[in-house]
Amino acid sequence: MARRTKVYEGKAKILYEGPEPGTLVQYFKDDATAFNAEKRDVIDGKGVLNNFLSEFVMNGLNQMGVPTHFIRRLNMREQLIRSVEIIPLEVVVRNIAAGSMSKRLGIEEGTALPRPIIEFYYKDDALGDPLVTEDQILAFNWASHQDLDDMVALAVRVNDFLSGVMLAVGIRLIDFKIEIGRQFDGDMQRLVVADEISPDSCRLWDVKTGQKLDKDVFRRDLGDLADAYSEVARRLGVMPKSPTPITRPKLMN
Ligand code: TMP
Ligand code: ASP
Repeated sequence: MARRTKVYEGKAKILYEGPEPGTLVQYFKDDATAFNAEKRDVIDGKGVLNNFLSEFVMNGLNQMGVPTHFIRRLNMREQLIRSVEIIPLEVVVRNIAAGSMSKRLGIEEGTALPRPIIEFYYKDDALGDPLVTEDQILAFNWASHQDLDDMVALAVRVNDFLSGVMLAVGIRLIDFKIEIGRQFDGDMQRLVVADEISPDSCRLWDVKTGQKLDKDVFRRDLGDLADAYSEVARRLGVMPKSPTPITRPKLMN
């Protein structure tokens, strides 16, 4: 069998050349890192869970008319995606204060924000992904005015969709991070949601108990990460252990 060409390897995923031009295969690893890879571990099954959870979210967004890079899941650890040029910014949307915002501004974790707040971070591991202003983004040409408008619009729609989906299964969406890519079609380009949307890139708290069901379980040593992600998958009806449910024959009438 021919060896696949690796295009890129990150902390949690590998990208391989896809079967057709303009496509890539995104492989989900079991590696977990935090604090710019200062803390790292391998969590059995995390890659499989994130592959299924991200498929669920991206499919939902596509159905809502929010464009994403996702085409389809291929197997337990891989999905077929459209090749895009990633904008070097992480877009964070916050509904409730937590994490770095709580630290930076001295707002107690769990405090509801007056409205969703959007932040941009410059993607650069050597610098630790610093928070940047819109003026810096424009001056350094990381994105245009139009791009920024489109990115905010995408982020708001992801927030609306994901908050609703999670609330329906008793989970509060505290905050999340997305990455956005340029998809080229001849002379035209459009911005699409890329990378992954999973408990690695969200904060998810149980509505009743406040229990954390996201990567903070790993960052803060709060318990078993795979158990937390499995609980999210179970509630959403996304169970990777039985990808092909046994169905009974239907009676025709
Ligand atoms: P923060 O509070 O640490 O800034 O994180 C905000 C959200 O972004 C949280 O849901 C976790 C997510 N996130 C990532 O996905 N990748 C990162 O590198 C960081 C720092 C945060
Ligand atoms: N910063 C990422 C996180 O904590 C992971 C990492 O940087 O290693 O989510």
